[in-house]
Amino acid sequence: MRLSTAILLICGAFCSTTAAQDLGDLTTVDKWKKVAHGVWSAELGEASGEVRYSDLAGAPPKIERLNRLKNIPLPGRIRKIGYHVNSDQKLMVRIPTSVGEKIFGYGLQFDGTQKNGKILTLKVDHFSKGGGATHAPVPFFISSQGYGVFFNTAKFLKVYNQVGNRKDSKTNPPEVDRNPPDDEPQSGRWMAQPPGDAIEAYVHGKGMELVVFTGTDLQDIVARYNLYCGGGAMPPLWGLGFWHRVPSKFSAAQTVQEINDFRKHDIPLDVIGLEPGWQTKSYPCTFEWQRKRFPDPGGFTKKLLDDGLHLNLWENPYISQHARIYEKMYPLSGSHLVWLGIVPDYTLQEARDILIEQHKQDHFDIGVSGYKIDEVDGYDHWLWPDHAVFPSGTSSESMRQTYGLLMQRMFYKELYHKHNLRTFGLVRASNGAASHYPFAIYSDSYGHDEYITGISSASLSGILWCPEIRSAGSDREWINRMHTVCFSPLAMLNAWASGTKPWSFPDSTGAVRNTIQLRMQLLPYLYTAFADYHQNGVPPVRSMLLETGRTNSRQVGREREINGENAPYADGDEPEIKEDNSLFMFGPDILVAPFYNRSVERQVQLPKGNWYDFYSGQLVGNHEEIKVTAQQTNDLPPLFVKEGSLIPMLKKPVNRTREIIGTDLEIRYYGKTDATCSLYEDDGETFGFEKGLYNLRKFSVEMQTDGTLRFSQTMIHEECRPMFGTATLKPMAR
Ligand code: GAL
Repeated sequence: MRLSTAILLICGAFCSTTAAQDLGDLTTVDKWKKVAHGVWSAELGEASGEVRYSDLAGAPPKIERLNRLKNIPLPGRIRKIGYHVNSDQKLMVRIPTSVGEKIFGYGLQFDGTQKNGKILTLKVDHFSKGGGATHAPVPFFISSQGYGVFFNTAKFLKVYNQVGNRKDSKTNPPEVDRNPPDDEPQSGRWMAQPPGDAIEAYVHGKGMELVVFTGTDLQDIVARYNLYCGGGAMPPLWGLGFWHRVPSKFSAAQTVQEINDFRKHDIPLDVIGLEPGWQTKSYPCTFEWQRKRFPDPGGFTKKLLDDGLHLNLWENPYISQHARIYEKMYPLSGSHLVWLGIVPDYTLQEARDILIEQHKQDHFDIGVSGYKIDEVDGYDHWLWPDHAVFPSGTSSESMRQTYGLLMQRMFYKELYHKHNLRTFGLVRASNGAASHYPFAIYSDSYGHDEYITGISSASLSGILWCPEIRSAGSDREWINRMHTVCFSPLAMLNAWASGTKPWSFPDSTGAVRNTIQLRMQLLPYLYTAFADYHQNGVPPVRSMLLETGRTNSRQVGREREINGENAPYADGDEPEIKEDNSLFMFGPDILVAPFYNRSVERQVQLPKGNWYDFYSGQLVGNHEEIKVTAQQTNDLPPLFVKEGSLIPMLKKPVNRTREIIGTDLEIRYYGKTDATCSLYEDDGETFGFEKGLYNLRKFSVEMQTDGTLRFSQTMIHEECRPMFGTATLKPMAR
């Protein structure tokens, strides 16, 4: 029943309809359509003309896979969602929440994963701390009450997460007199921000689609979101190796020299990234080779490919008058310039065709493996204004929310997928329904703690985060940042301005080399985790929130003294419960506890269950706080492995991913219980896996009554040549 109708019935003839509208006239959302098991959608208001993120997804929802998951009914609370279109024709949606319910997500957010009590403006923007505006403000949250909601509309969205109290609510906290007379006790705790009982979101549009997900736990909910968005991205194997970006004005000769230096220093390398100066003009761009620096682009790229290296090109989308596609693109671009370049309207097929034809000819056909798509995020001062117009009629706002997505879609679908070659790239803005796109987000911000938080945060919303290393203030910071880099989805040194190299801090070169080599050894494990992302929606590197029963919250807030000048509401502060994003999971079984900044030790609050030291195999604890030092880990990152885990690793490190083919594996065994793991293989570079051309092996260890271990392997799916050599069990100390 519409709330307004109920109010009218109660008020009868004494109330006017104006009084009902004062309350917001909420309409209950009652037409939920089941999409698949645990996924429902509903349209609110006039949604037909709105741009939906899901229309820009990399692939259609994996319905068949979703329907193999548990069929969980639509939660009762979802049936209480109401909305209201105000006199400005803007829509507000209200999702009731309960006391103690925790809200997480909303894309890449550097200030943490938990969002209770926060007001977020979800708008694509350059890095910022808090407030919601970020490189990837995905309008998707998950709740500790077992559901998630995706606001599927490409508009700015302002979300009040349990902030604000409606006057007609039955669940507002009781009023408390903050200044009772001295002889009267205070009736309770006065709060500066009395908690609200709902998530209220306000969108600059007349309607929107809501998609609701339920699951058995938070990981299951996120997995269903990713499956709904087409399943997670599947990068080529080379994309998981080590990346290095050279300074902006480097030439072909300097780049080749740098590659040789990597070899000399015995440092793994798979991808070389060129920064703006490879083009004839940049900012705005031509996308054409600067022959003074790259006289023979085809020869250069071939040399790299022959050496097992892949080339990634920087570009921003704004086109220079000197570009040969400028004239053709001019009528297909928006009203305003960015960096004085025209802004193509990539919702138009004609515009996409022009760019793709040029890119195919100049880059793809000579072997360029992917792109770094820069500057698609803002600031307001750099981007087109909110009143800009585009030839397709797409609003400036929707264009801003989706520009990074449109670029990902174009390069992925119309260049690489179309020609059956995988790519892995970088992009500085993304948004809803991006799970399937093989692009990682990066930023110009550089706080190490924010970069670590980004790993957990991104994993809740179907995006990949690259906490790139650029420089450091000391050897120790260099090592610690390299740890974070090598245990993230895309491991990259971005020396575009600094010119740093892995060996730039001589005293730490050994530790850096060992860290990168460890990532290389772990690639069979990481590649399998990506296959799980693709097939089952489970993020490969993820927040502890997605580990059922292993989350560890800690109380970090404290009450402050009231102070009339700068803390007048202090006595109303709530102790803050913040999730611990200082730990995260790398694949299904390895917990990473990075050292921050220049630290050489840290405390680790181990989650429930037995955890083993990755390097020694020794039991380190169970649901307790331990201390770990860089001396103990031999300057490698602190890594802990779950009870009963098998980790498939290369027996020896390699310097290029192509050397992985045929390399023997050791399957490290941790703990005292039976254990299993999967190992995924395919051709590493084409989309053959989409047609089933892959292998999935299962390894098992069973503890025998006499204490010996029985190791076995079964082929579950066998449709391609094996990637790896022979696998042998390596029991770690028990
Ligand atoms: C920035 C980008 C950097 C680098 C630089 C080159 O916008 O974030 O990573 O590519 O441009 O000019």
